[in-house]
Amino acid sequence: MNNINQFCGHGATAVPALYFNSKEAMIDLAAGKFNINPLFFRAMDTEDYIRQEETFGAHNYRPLDVVLSRGEGVWVWDVEGRRYLDFLSSYSAINQGHCHPRILKALTEQAARLTLVSRAFRHDQLGPFYQEICELTDSHSVLPMNSGAEAVETAIKAVRKWGYEVKGIPDGQAEIVVAENNFHGRTLTIVGFSTEPQYRRGFGPFTPGFKAVPFGDAQAIESAITPNTAAVLLEPIQGEGGVIIPPAGYLKKVREICNRENVMLVLDEIQTGLGRTGKLFAEEHEGIQSDLTLVGKALSGGFYPVSAVLSNKEVLGVFHPGDHGSTFGGNPLACAVAREALKVLTEEGMIENAARQGRYAMERLQALRSPHIREVRGRGLLIGIELVPEAGGARRFCEALKERGVLCKETHVNVIRLAPPLIIQRDELDQGLEQIEAVLREA
Ligand SMILES: Cc1ncc(COP(=O)(O)O)c(C=O)c1O
Repeated sequence: MNNINQFCGHGATAVPALYFNSKEAMIDLAAGKFNINPLFFRAMDTEDYIRQEETFGAHNYRPLDVVLSRGEGVWVWDVEGRRYLDFLSSYSAINQGHCHPRILKALTEQAARLTLVSRAFRHDQLGPFYQEICELTDSHSVLPMNSGAEAVETAIKAVRKWGYEVKGIPDGQAEIVVAENNFHGRTLTIVGFSTEPQYRRGFGPFTPGFKAVPFGDAQAIESAITPNTAAVLLEPIQGEGGVIIPPAGYLKKVREICNRENVMLVLDEIQTGLGRTGKLFAEEHEGIQSDLTLVGKALSGGFYPVSAVLSNKEVLGVFHPGDHGSTFGGNPLACAVAREALKVLTEEGMIENAARQGRYAMERLQALRSPHIREVRGRGLLIGIELVPEAGGARRFCEALKERGVLCKETHVNVIRLAPPLIIQRDELDQGLEQIEAVLREA
């Protein structure tokens, strides 16, 4: 009880005694950090970690009750030593698999050399990263940030400024058309144009200038465009929204509309990009190119937050020194990690593997007869199993799968999202699918 103030400085009151001395009880063994429950002088178990997290942390997530401590490839292990197949890949940030050895090597070597210089100075990783990502993605210009939401914010700033300076939209009047059911992150501007009530409730007032239209309806986009429209911002497939795949030809039509109306097409490929759908970018399924492409998540193979806006000189050329920036955006560690993460993605055939294994998984899941399934949809290794409302929600199936050694997560209430690492092999996929089929066949 002696160091209660250490933990209660922000007004905590009822803190279980179990944790008062937990900091002191952390001992450093040669193998790494090992946490001891001070009451019983035993290793902390799953319940201890959960209680600690719930006691001291804000409750802005509702994770499955599994406490992970190690990952390798498609596998993760919990603190009790149980092994699980990761069928979520940190919402597609671990496309390259957990702790990929080549990315790990790039990270540790760069971390020992130079990590951060801010953008006050130049460094020897930035230019190579810029050139390599532009060549890989057929882009002319790149602006690096950290989180996905920051890339989205950066794109919004870029297209607004482009709208005023190049298109000639009157100052303060720029509009952006977005899709209903979108998910682009959690900043205030972004949640301001979300159509999910919970993402907005209690957070207003919001940034004006956004119009939401039904996803998958190109005509609705055309009708929403005015002379003041700077951009259309879409996910090629709505991942968080429930793995919603728009009708064939949608993106092509939107591309034509944007060309005709002199409006920038911004595609948020933070979840769908970098191989997830079996192509480098999901836009390729429709044979189009956006004006701005947003990447994040797997850009670092899950080692580090790295995101970027990829575009052309006309749009990113609107930024001048002082207009935009980030202390960590484009730092040497991020660039070294991203360079290697992109290399392993292409050199190790992960994109082709995602297409191959994704086709197989879809065939198997679509053949599954279960009273709980309304629809199975997906592209590459991004798959959603939508359940009928009577199934009692996707959560209970994810919990059952956890018990069977497969980790995945519900998105919205009724969709089980499957997104294993793109390195997954057929026997591992079979193991996961067998468990999924078993829980979905159960009454
Ligand atoms: C399509 C899309 N855009 C943006 C984001 C936000 O990324 P971050 O959580 O890194 O800010 C996400 C996160 O899930 C996403 O799926």
